[in-house]
Amino acid sequence: MTETTDSEETIVSPDSHHPNTRVVVLLGSLRAASLNRRIVAVLDERAPAGVTLEVASGLGDIPFYNEELDGDAIPAEAQALRDLVAGADRVLAVTPEYNGTMPAVLNNAIDWLSRPYGQGALTGKPFAAVGATPTPYGGKWSHDDARRSARIAGADVLEDVVVSESALAGDILADPEVVSRLVGALTTLVAHRSTAAAA
Ligand SMILES: Cc1cc2nc3c(=O)[nH]c(=O)nc-3n(C[C@H](O)[C@H](O)[C@H](O)COP(=O)(O)O)c2cc1C
Repeated sequence: MTETTDSEETIVSPDSHHPNTRVVVLLGSLRAASLNRRIVAVLDERAPAGVTLEVASGLGDIPFYNEELDGDAIPAEAQALRDLVAGADRVLAVTPEYNGTMPAVLNNAIDWLSRPYGQGALTGKPFAAVGATPTPYGGKWSHDDARRSARIAGADVLEDVVVSESALAGDILADPEVVSRLVGALTTLVAHRSTAAAA
């Protein structure tokens, strides 16, 4: 989907229809019982009409980025990720925080998506980062770092979409306000009209 507009104005409504908009989700947690995985499931249920979420599976199986591996034939798992993101309209990182930054699997995915330099699959892609952790800041540093890294990798980052939910209080997904914030982030990402060439 190519979108160009003279205006930065966006219409943000969950009722808007976005035909055939593919959002690739980069999930920063590998564990089955992940809260962030549950967030993705809720977003999938409540995505705006016409929007499909596709979770990039197997991020944990992609070798660590190594320029020696990055030639004509790259590891199949890395190629699959590049192909998935290249075909997407939007990219959403849904991630916890590990030691004050994004988990290594997410960082590694962004590294693979950042190359070839200037032509990586993230180039020009509208990108946002959300998530939750059971600490007071909700993984804010992870989301900040994911946005910065994706921006340096060439993505069209939505800097104002900041949803870092603290799960200290219990089951945050039972709270309609939390769900509304998360769905709002997805809706804003989908409605974003990119000024970048390759969106
Ligand atoms: C190695 C490690 C480091 C962590 N560091 C942080 C941290 O810096 N900030 C934070 O908010 N939570 C931190 N946590 C807690 C995670 O956010 C928590 O385990 C979270 O539930 C993981 O997300 P998930 O439920 O989607 O797997 C850390 C957890 C692990 C295992």
